[in-house]
Formats: sequence, C-alpha cells, structure tokens
Amino acid sequence: MARRLHASTIPASRVLPSPDVLDFERLQRLHSLVLLKDVIRKWFGLELSFADPTGRVVGRTEETIVPPQNDFCRLSLFAKEGYSRCSQSVRVLSEKAAGQGKLRSPACHDCHLGFEVLGAPISIDGEGCGTVFVEGYARRQPTGADAETLKLKLAEVTLGAVSTNLDRAIEKLPVLSPTDETRLSDLLELAVGEVTLASQPRRGAQRFGELVGTSEPMAELVRLLEKVCPSDATVLIEGESGTGKELVARAIHANGPRAQKAFVVQNCSAFNDELLESALFGHLRGSFTGAIQDKKGLFEIADGGTFFLDEIGDMSPALQVKLLRVLQEGIFTPVGGTEPRQVDVRIIAATHKDLKAMTSSGQFRQDLYYRINVIRVRVPPLRERREDVPLLAEHFLRKLSLARGVPPKQLSAETLGALVQHDWPGNVRELQNEMERMLVLGTDHAVLTPDLLSSRFRPQDEGPDREEIGSKAGRLRSALEAVERDVIAQGLERTRNNRSRLARELGISRSNLLYKIQKYKLD
Ligand SMILES: Nc1ncnc2c1ncn2[C@@H]1O[C@H](COP(=O)(O)OP(=O)(O)OP(=O)(O)O)[C@@H](O)[C@H]1O
Ligand SMILES: [Mg+2]
Repeated sequence: MARRLHASTIPASRVLPSPDVLDFERLQRLHSLVLLKDVIRKWFGLELSFADPTGRVVGRTEETIVPPQNDFCRLSLFAKEGYSRCSQSVRVLSEKAAGQGKLRSPACHDCHLGFEVLGAPISIDGEGCGTVFVEGYARRQPTGADAETLKLKLAEVTLGAVSTNLDRAIEKLPVLSPTDETRLSDLLELAVGEVTLASQPRRGAQRFGELVGTSEPMAELVRLLEKVCPSDATVLIEGESGTGKELVARAIHANGPRAQKAFVVQNCSAFNDELLESALFGHLRGSFTGAIQDKKGLFEIADGGTFFLDEIGDMSPALQVKLLRVLQEGIFTPVGGTEPRQVDVRIIAATHKDLKAMTSSGQFRQDLYYRINVIRVRVPPLRERREDVPLLAEHFLRKLSLARGVPPKQLSAETLGALVQHDWPGNVRELQNEMERMLVLGTDHAVLTPDLLSSRFRPQDEGPDREEIGSKAGRLRSALEAVERDVIAQGLERTRNNRSRLARELGISRSNLLYKIQKYKLD
C-alpha cells in the first residue's frame, strides 16, 4: 500500500556536463553518508562501500584492506587470490546493477564465498559513475554443512593458511531476513540519491536545490530568482509566516556574486530599539551603561556580503531613518560615535506584514518602502501549492531522519492522502513539525500510518462528510481503506492468523496491526 516518493528539486535551466570521476574521498565524508554508513553498520553489521566504474573498491588496494564486518571476507581479502575474486564479484555486481536499467534500484549477486553482495549503480546525467554496495551477508543461518563448504571455499583462496577460529566467525555472520534486505535496499537507494545530489555540478541541478517544489507557483518563484540572483539589487521578500522567506533569502545570497562573503541575519522584532540599533550599527565604549568596549555592528560584519533584515515591518520609525541612510549612502554611525562608516552591503528584507498598507497608516516610512521595494519576491503559501505537499513531506522525512541517524521512513498512502487533503494554511513549517512528530511517535514503524498523525490531520473515522471537498476526500479514504482491509484479510489467511508475522511482513507494528484488525472487524 505504501507509495514510494522521490524528492525532486526544481530543474535548473543550465546543466553542465557531469564529472567522469567522482570524488569518492569527499563523498564519503558527506554528513548524510557518514550517518548512513553508521546506520548500516549498527543495524546490519555491514559496511557501506563504493566502487568506481571499473568495479574497483574505493579505498581498498592489496595493501590497504578496508576491514569488512565478516571474518571470512576479511581473511579472503588478505589473500591474493581472494582479493582478486572479491574484486571480480564487485565488478560483476556493478555491471549487473548498471545493466538492469532501473535507476538507483539495487541488484544482488553471489560472491565467490557464497555470500550476498547488494549494490546500486550511481548514474549522473545517464553516465555510470560507480556503484554503492554492501557485501558479505547471508540469507539464512548457515547449517553445519554450509559451514564446512564455507571453510573449504576460504581454504581454496587462502591456501589453507588460516589460524582464526572459524566457528566463532560463523556465529558472527550477518544474516539478513527478506525484510532486512528490503530496508537495506532502501538505504542503498538513499545513499545513491545522496551521492548523485552531491555530485551535481554546483550551478546545475543543485541550484535552488533547497527549495523543494515543482508546482507552478514555485517554478515561477525560481524563474524570478534566476533573474534576481546575479544582480546586487535590494530585495523585499513577502510571505506569510513559515512559508520559506529565510530559505529564499539564503538562496538569493548563495547563488549570487556575494556567495563567498558573509550572510548576516537580523530579526528586527527580536529586540528593543536600543539593542537593535547597537546590534545593527555597533557602539563605542561608554556610549551607554554596559557598553564596556567597542562593538562592531552587523552592517560592518556583513560588509561585502548580504544582510538579511527579517521582519523589517517591526522596525521603529527612528531606526527606519538610520536604515534609509545606509541604503541611500552606504554609511552609518555607530551608537555613541560621530564618524560615519562606509559599507558595501546587499540588503534583503523580509516581512509577513503588508508594508504598503503600513505606509498609508504612517507606521512605515514611504521613502524607505520605495528603497527596499526594488524587487519584490512573494513566497507562495502552501495552500496555493498543495501539489508540493508530498515532495515536501518526503523531503522533511529524509532530512530529519538523517539528522537523527535513523533510516528514512515512508508515509503510507493513506497518511499521504490525509496530508494532501488537509486544509493547509500557508505554513510549511507546520508540515515540517508534523513530520518530526511522526518520526518520534513512529520509531517502531517502518511505514508511517495515519494513526500517528495529529488529530487535525487525521481522517475522520466516522460521521458524514462535510462539504463537497469532504466527500471527495471521503471517497479516496474509503477506497484506500478497502484496499488495506483486503491486504490484511488476505494476510491473516496466508499466515494462518499469525499476527506477529503479518505485522512484520507489512512493516507495521503488531499493535498497529491489532488496531486495524479491530477497526476493520476482521477478528
Ligand atoms: N520550499 C521549501 N522547500 C524546503 N523547505 C522549505 C520550503 N519552504 C519552507 N521550508 C522549510 O520550512 C521552514 C520554514 O521556513 P523559513 O524559516 O524560511 O520561513 P519564514 O517564512 O522565514 O518563516 P517565519 O515567518 O516563521 O520567519 C524551514 O525549516 C524551511 O527549511
Ligand atoms: Mg523567517
């Protein structure tokens, strides 16, 4: 029932040719890959590895062996013949994985010792750049006979020169169930995704990569940003709370000529006037009680770079005058000082208020408004780009899982349906918070089911549908429920009512399965 989603970012207008050789050393140090490696090591006792397009294992030469988890593999690798056969297995896997034509989807291969090697191709702009893989696990606990065969195969490549206690090595072998393998497959797919993303040319697909969404309002926003970025013009970003204003400001800076210089943020509503003035312009020693030494203002720190003035609508009229001066002449005077200072700063301002209306009521200076409002960027609220909800949800799940060092989870189709149908206000942060909540509550769920949603998102179980939207939502919901009921009913029959096994097979917790059995009156 679970639907797989792929985070997609907005394609950029220019795509540069792909690098022929990936910088694996750098890739392996990527935060996300370090976390993934760690998860795979802890959960499965396996080592996430890379091979180049010729199948050569990165970081492994005959002199330096990246020690694998599995003693048999390790012993075999230290022998010349074993090393060569193992490399051969990886090469075959690489070819197999690349040849199956399914992007990012892992393939499996038996190695010379009879263990499994599981890997997925890395392809950038249609060109094979290598393989991400794990090697050396078994699909079932070896029997006595298996153990004897294994020892013989190992002796064949080591010429019998093994003194380690192999019985202990047998006990420690990583054995993966089909479910484990599926999960591992998902993690490998994720690893390939991370590698691909990190290997895109900077100005190519990576551009505005943080801004998730393929809806028309987002595409329009990106088109505007493409024009805005190269210039040095002042930008006013408008949008409701939590719609991504700061994210847009950062994107403008990161993709503009000042990208290598500072990006400084100040929220103008966070402080009282005096403190804000001192934060912006700095102060001289003794200019007020507590000013025990000179302090640089943020305008000076931002010199050469970009200054993001958040919630500019909350700035007092007195400070508005001083800001206007910086914008007009590029100069300001620190608190308690007399000498004006010169700076070169690009200003990006943001507000969730209607500044134009505020100029009419005299709360915001008209001259400042015109100075700031050179280029206006409106960030669309989520309700205007509902079709981005699945992408955003998956994006947040991925990001948050990585940050917590846990394998990524999927939303069940039903959960996704509920999220898409939710009457979204403008706020993207609300969706992010909900995903975080689901991850916390669903630690033991592989698939995040609707019962984990906060009540305001949860589809109502009973009761007549409200209006027309409600009834459409209701139809989708009952269709999904009918499928789910079928899957569970058939599963109960197949497993002869073995609920623990069925829960495992479905990738849900036992208690969740029991809840569903009761809900669908299947007992
Ligand atoms: N298009 C998007 N793609 C990915 N993440 C997004 C997007 N829009 C918003 N977010 C995320 O939502 C959260 C809120 O975004 P941000 O802080 O930029 O909004 P804001 O408009 O500045 O909010 P506030 O009004 O509360 O200051 C952030 O974690 C941000 O990364
Ligand atoms: Mg903000």
